[in-house]
Amino acid sequence: MPAGSAALALLCPRVCAFPSSLGRNLFSLFDSPVSRPLRRLCFSSCPSSSSRQRVTAVCNFSSYSDGGAAVMDMENNGLENMAIDVNPPKGTRDFPPEEMRIRSWLFQNFREVSRLFAFEEVDFPVLESEALFIRKAGEEITEQLYSFEDKGGRRVALRPELTPSLARLIIQKGKAVSLPIKWFTIGQCWRYERMTRGRRREHYQWNMDVIGITEVTAEAELIFAIVTLFKQLGITSSDVGFKVSSRKVLQAAMQQCSISEHLFTKVCITIDKIGKMEMDEIEKDLASSGIPMESVKTLLHIVSLKTISELEEVLSDQNAIVELRQLFSLAEHYGYLQWIEFDASVVRGLAYYTGIVFEAFDRDGKLRAICGGGRYDRLLSTLGGEDLPACGFGFGDAVIVELLKEKGLLPALPLMVDDIVFAIDGALQQMAATVASTLRQKGQKVDLVLERKKLKWVFKHAERINASRLILIGESEWQQGMVRVKNLSTREESNVKLDDL
Ligand code: HAM
Repeated sequence: MPAGSAALALLCPRVCAFPSSLGRNLFSLFDSPVSRPLRRLCFSSCPSSSSRQRVTAVCNFSSYSDGGAAVMDMENNGLENMAIDVNPPKGTRDFPPEEMRIRSWLFQNFREVSRLFAFEEVDFPVLESEALFIRKAGEEITEQLYSFEDKGGRRVALRPELTPSLARLIIQKGKAVSLPIKWFTIGQCWRYERMTRGRRREHYQWNMDVIGITEVTAEAELIFAIVTLFKQLGITSSDVGFKVSSRKVLQAAMQQCSISEHLFTKVCITIDKIGKMEMDEIEKDLASSGIPMESVKTLLHIVSLKTISELEEVLSDQNAIVELRQLFSLAEHYGYLQWIEFDASVVRGLAYYTGIVFEAFDRDGKLRAICGGGRYDRLLSTLGGEDLPACGFGFGDAVIVELLKEKGLLPALPLMVDDIVFAIDGALQQMAATVASTLRQKGQKVDLVLERKKLKWVFKHAERINASRLILIGESEWQQGMVRVKNLSTREESNVKLDDL
């Protein structure tokens, strides 16, 4: 790095995501609240040499108030002029401040609910070994994997979900963790999806999982956690409902129709497409596995049932029904019975579920599933560990935000600053830093004006950032150990002693 560049690199730590040979020489800053002069400083200080070409890229700083375009200037190791695509890759999102406030608010709600239920937070790497996600069941999720070979020749993948990582960690911990485990996590997942409303190629998921409990008390508690979140967000049981069933229903139905057990996962994946695919396509798909059409029809009749009593009449194996009845009885005692309904067609598209499964939907039917989960008692052994009873759910960030927008429930989340501190005279900038620091120690959120600006600009800026008070550092007040304080909502002004701020 040329002399003098180190200081700039410190000022501009976020080098953009260019190929490393390019990024190394890039002196620009994209997403931090950098002021225009600093940006200019970054650009004009780029070392240029006649032997090297310069690259100009136009970047839209739309999250800045001026919303203008900035020219990014950098050295180029042999590339022609190039305008980069300023959009993130298809299906992925940037989170400028206004979007980030929504995300943080949502995650805070996820965390609050998880802690109300005494769950502990965990995390895993976004990049995992590809083998963790390879299942031969023909699930969509496996086909949508973002996988590649790393520089060491290892097959790796961006996680499409969090459950396999959780299972991996449980296996790794072995007997070191005491059961039951109640863990939650919030993480980014990647799936090469066909994009629809609320479905994208990256999304964040909130997961809560219980390991070590065989009883349906665990599923009942997890569904209640989701209901608690909905209520916290202002969503009612007339907005959202849970469809609940058990994979054991399908298992029993298949047994009754003499369909081979080895077709179970394939049948689950096909049944999961009911509603997304035409019924005759579903029939054809099942028949193509060698299931006689008569059995296909019986099976589809059973999965079309919408009450447990109807199911009781047609199903000879009552095991699944007992569990479902227990779950509904618990829901009544928790007080969320009106949120859940039985629907035999809910089987879930992931291969590892073994028992109760559930999904939450908006009752207007406009959106895809808001969340989904279930029991997966045999996942650990498929990864080489010892099985433990387990259940959990995944709740995405995208569909819920769509629903909240739809219902007018997304709160206004403006940037909130308590004080803006401004030195009227440049010579008083150090005093302004002292005042800002004193206020911050008291817990005030303080925006210190870092550059020479006109008072008119400071007022406009204060309005834009929703500051409550303007603290002006002026020579005469400072001599008396005071600052000028203006309450920006009442417009009242007074001189206040530093200690009384
Ligand atoms: P899943 O149904 O595949 O389950 O995903 C759970 C939730 O993640 C969905 O209901 C949806 O809210 C969100 N989601 C999934 N894919 C996308 C996407 N492409 N774009 C936006 N949101 C999406 C699982 O992932 C299981 N591992 C959940 C689980 C945890 N089961 C037990 N524990």
